[in-house]
Amino acid sequence: MANMERLQKVIAHAGVASRRKAEQLIVDGKVKVNGETVTELGTKVTPNDDIEVNGVPIDKEEPVYFLLYKPRGVISSVKDDKGRKVVTDYLPEVQERIFPIGRLDYDTSGVLLLTNDGDFANLLMHPSHEVDKEYIVKTKGIPSSDHMKKLKKGISVDGDYLKAVHAKVMSTESKRNTAIVKVILHEGKNRQVRRMFDALGFPVDKLKRERYGMIGLHGMNAGDYRPLKPHEVKQLRQLAEENVK
Ligand code: URA
Repeated sequence: MANMERLQKVIAHAGVASRRKAEQLIVDGKVKVNGETVTELGTKVTPNDDIEVNGVPIDKEEPVYFLLYKPRGVISSVKDDKGRKVVTDYLPEVQERIFPIGRLDYDTSGVLLLTNDGDFANLLMHPSHEVDKEYIVKTKGIPSSDHMKKLKKGISVDGDYLKAVHAKVMSTESKRNTAIVKVILHEGKNRQVRRMFDALGFPVDKLKRERYGMIGLHGMNAGDYRPLKPHEVKQLRQLAEENVK
């Protein structure tokens, strides 16, 4: 999971001890995770795990929630081994250990939510919770309304059944042989939009996520971010909870 971190790092981050001291505390059996003593240094924890050092719970971060207008050419991760740009580079003032809720591909732009609240992230990412994800797709070639029907019926690609809840050609440019298509998904399978359009024979030229639930990009430019308002967090949670099947 994207939001797993090494125990010693989390302890150090909470200001309890240096990284080295935190490692010693773990080895010495002074650290409990969810009530169990943990002595292994590689242990990974999430923001939802309860951690105690010498019987004292470490301060948990307040949950925070952000919307980033992800630019193209950025990885939906908190760090990259090859030193490429990652989405958290765009929120340098945020001190909390935030991570993206799901992913957008390197070349996809648009709405990306970030949080340090693992329960919230899991709730939204669960496919049966049916939160709308709306995409604007520029295709190479011009698909027909029959192709849109296929997207809505669902297509099998490499053993995955991929389905859109809405798909409509918004405009076409016959000279350039391109189209703009609006697609709404409830699922978020790996490269889902690109794979669906590839399967139809209309490769994706550009892809942008316009909306996640009721969260859009109004007034924002690529690279901008803002905190979500408390009512937006509440509505997103409600949206996901309502739709549990
Ligand atoms: N579908 C894709 O193919 N890519 C994304 O980034 C999001 C949805």
